[in-house]
Amino acid sequence: MMEKIIVTCALPYANGSLHLGHILEHIQADIWVRYQRMINNEVWFICADDAHGTPIMLKAKKIKSTPEQLIKKIYKEHKTDFKNFNIIHDNYHSTHSSENKKILVKIYNILKKRKLIKKKKTLQFYDIKEKMFLPDRLVIGTCPKCKTKNQYSDNCEICGSTYSYKEIINPKSTISNSIPILKNSIHYFFNLPKFTKMLKNWISSGTLNKNVSNKIIEWFKIGLKKWNISRDAPYFGFKIPKTNKYFYVWLDATIGYISTFKNLCNKKKKINFNEFWNKNTKTKLYHFIGKDIIYFHSLFWIAILEGCKLRKPNKIFIHGHLTINKIKMSKSKKTYIKAKTWLKYFNSDSLRYYFASKLSHKLEDIDLNLIDFKKKINNDIVNKLVNLAYRNLSFINKLYNNKLSKKLDNYDLYKTFVKKSKNILKYFNNCNFSQIIKKIMELTKNANYYIDQKSPWKLIKISKNKNKIHEICTTGINLFKILMTLLKPILPKLSNKIEKLLNTNLILKNIDKPLLNHKIKKPKKLFNRIKKTQIKNLLKK
Ligand code: MSP
Ligand code: ZN
Repeated sequence: MMEKIIVTCALPYANGSLHLGHILEHIQADIWVRYQRMINNEVWFICADDAHGTPIMLKAKKIKSTPEQLIKKIYKEHKTDFKNFNIIHDNYHSTHSSENKKILVKIYNILKKRKLIKKKKTLQFYDIKEKMFLPDRLVIGTCPKCKTKNQYSDNCEICGSTYSYKEIINPKSTISNSIPILKNSIHYFFNLPKFTKMLKNWISSGTLNKNVSNKIIEWFKIGLKKWNISRDAPYFGFKIPKTNKYFYVWLDATIGYISTFKNLCNKKKKINFNEFWNKNTKTKLYHFIGKDIIYFHSLFWIAILEGCKLRKPNKIFIHGHLTINKIKMSKSKKTYIKAKTWLKYFNSDSLRYYFASKLSHKLEDIDLNLIDFKKKINNDIVNKLVNLAYRNLSFINKLYNNKLSKKLDNYDLYKTFVKKSKNILKYFNNCNFSQIIKKIMELTKNANYYIDQKSPWKLIKISKNKNKIHEICTTGINLFKILMTLLKPILPKLSNKIEKLLNTNLILKNIDKPLLNHKIKKPKKLFNRIKKTQIKNLLKK
C-alpha cells in the first residue's frame, strides 16, 4: 500500500554557512526519500532555516547588520548549497515566517489553556554592560569540580560534570568580558514532568533504536525538569502575547516542522494539512537529526505534540557526528569544511557515495578521511562500477552500432542479481546504507568476474561467433543496469547520466526486465578519477 510521508531534517541555524556535517544529515535523508519514492510512496521532504535566537542576534550586530538581513542572506546561501549537492527538499522555509508565528502562538495558547505553562521567577546571569541576560553558553568560568578554566557556566568539557550557575567560579561574560551579576526575571515554563509516563511509553515503542532509548532512560532517572520556553529582551524571535518576553528559539524551531509543511500546503493545494497532523493520522512522520539534539526531539517536542493533541513522529533517525581525519569540526580551530568549498574540488555524488558507505543506524561518529575517500571512490566507482560499463559499452559501440543483443548470454546470472537486489533494497528502510554499498560492491565484483571469465577481447581474436560476444557484453550492461538502479538514490547524478546513456529509466518495476534488442547512446566519460592534487588544493583552503 502506498504510504504518505513527511520527512524532515533538523533546521540549520541561520548564523553561518553549511558545513559537511549538515550535508551528511541531508544526504542521509535525501537518499532515504529517493528510495521511498522509488517504491512509490508519496513523500514530502521539508526543512527550513532556524532563524531565531541570541547567536543570530549577536552575529548580526558583529557584522553591523540586522538579524533580518543576515537570515535572508544565509537563507539564499543554504538553498544554493543544498541544490548543488542534489539534495532536493519539497519545501525549504524559514522559522522567521508568518506561518510559524501563527502556529506557534496557537500552540502556546492551547498549552496555556490546558494549564501546561506556568510563570516562575528565576535567577540568571546578567551582563550590565550589554544590558542583557546571558544564556549559559555565553558565560564561562572555572569548573567547581576539577578547577579547569574557561568552561561553560553549566558544564565542564574536561571532567564532564554539570553544575548550577551558583557553583561556577569566576564567571565572565564572553560578550563584554565583564563580570555578570545574578538578576531575577519572570519566565514561562512548560510542564514537561507531567508527560513523564507518556514519554517513557513512547520512547520504548520502537520509534527509536535501542541504543538511543537506553540513553534516554538515563535522563528519566535524573528526572525531567520544567522547560523554560521564554527569553528576555533583547532577543531575535517572536514575542509571547501579552508579555514583554520572547519565545525561546527551540520552541519555535520544532514548530517550524509544522509551519514549513503548512507553507508547502499553501503552495500545493492538493496536500491536505490536517490529514498529516491530526492525532489519528495514518500518514507517517520521520525526523532525521544528529545525536546532539536528541533531548529536544524525543522529550520536549513529543510532549508539546501530545499537549496540543497533534500526531507524533513514527521514527527518529539519529546519526553520529562527522569528524575530519578523526578531528571534531570546529570553526575556531579551522577544522571544518564548508559545503560550497567541497564542491569546488569534488563532485557531489562522490561525497554521497562516501557517506552512504559509512552510514548505518549506529550513533558512532563518522570520519571523513581524505585518503580513504580517494581510495574508495577510485576503487569502487571508477575501477569497478564504471569500468564494468566501459568494457562492455566499447564493444557494443564498435561492433554492434550501439545496439544490445536479442538475448542474454547468461540469463541465470541476471536472475541471481535480481533476486539479490530485492534483499539489498530492504536495507534502505533502516538507513543501513553501508550494508547496501557493501553488497552492491560484491555484486559488481561478480559481474566483472563474469566478464573476465568470458574475456570478449580474447574471443574476438579466436572466434567467428560475433553473436556470442554481443550477448556477453549485453549481459554485462544489463548487470550494470541492475547495480545502477540500486544505486540511484545514492548517486543521482551518475544514474541520470546512465539513464540517458542506456536510453531507459532506472526504475524498480524494470529491474527484472533486461534491456534487449535495444538501442543505446554512444559511450562518454562517466566519472572522473580523484587525483591527489584535488585533495592537496582542498587542504590548502
Ligand atoms: N537549529 C537546531 C536544530 C533545530 S531542529 C527543530 C540545530 N542546528 S545546527 O545547525 O546546529 O545543526 C543542524 C543539524 O546538523 C543537527 O541535526 C546537528 O546534529 C547536525 N550537525 C551539526 N554538526 C554536525 C556534524 N559535525 N556532523 C553531523 N551532523 C552535525 O541544531
Ligand atoms: Zn571540570
